[in-house]
Amino acid sequence: MPADELRREYPELRSYDLVEVDVIDDGETLASVPDESVDFVVANHFIEHTEDPIATLGNHLRVVRPGGVLFMAVPDKRRTFDAARPVTSLEHLDRDHAEGPAWSHRVHYEQWAREVEQVPESQVAARARELDEQGFSIHFHVFTPAAFAELVHRCRDSYGLPVEVEALVPVDHEFIAVLRKRGQTAEFEAVATRHAAAPLAVRRAGA
Ligand SMILES: C[S@@+](CC[C@H](N)C(=O)[O-])C[C@H]1O[C@@H](n2cnc3c(N)ncnc32)[C@H](O)[C@@H]1O
Repeated sequence: MPADELRREYPELRSYDLVEVDVIDDGETLASVPDESVDFVVANHFIEHTEDPIATLGNHLRVVRPGGVLFMAVPDKRRTFDAARPVTSLEHLDRDHAEGPAWSHRVHYEQWAREVEQVPESQVAARARELDEQGFSIHFHVFTPAAFAELVHRCRDSYGLPVEVEALVPVDHEFIAVLRKRGQTAEFEAVATRHAAAPLAVRRAGA
């Protein structure tokens, strides 16, 4: 969104000096961003809003150069309003990717109405329809650090994406994920291979 729309959408940020926006695009596809054209992508509190996280990770990796970084802050569902929702399974994410996310689209709005807004069951369908018609930006999928690490490993092992988890650090209600695109230097490949061979260490903040 351009900065003036952002100010309207988030009136609570009115007092902040928002930077002007250079690129407006669908963050799931980044179609206007050429392959291997940037050194890093920062996407904070974004991946949980995407309907096909596997495709999104693929596109974010597509635009970074080999050796580049994806930096993401992701809400830890256990510590947010998503606490009552089940962690999104890999099978669900695989199906969203294989078939497209339309099959689960309304189901997510119903889950949001039921488990986040906690509306009575009799009102769930109507509230879900209303949110969907508004295009309300919900958390379609929800993660813990371990579930997110499994997703990244699935992307690497089943979909051939050139990615390693470099750090996964829980901080309060979120976790910071630093993902590295493989394929730059022999030195990086050696480090990546060591990481891939070792069980994933989820580092504590400040450790
Ligand atoms: C929770 S906000 C996070 C905003 C900011 N990154 C931050 O950390 O404060 C999620 C933002 O992602 C945007 N968003 C959701 N899906 C998107 C998409 N497919 N493409 C671009 N932006 C999207 C929403 O409009 C919303 O502004």
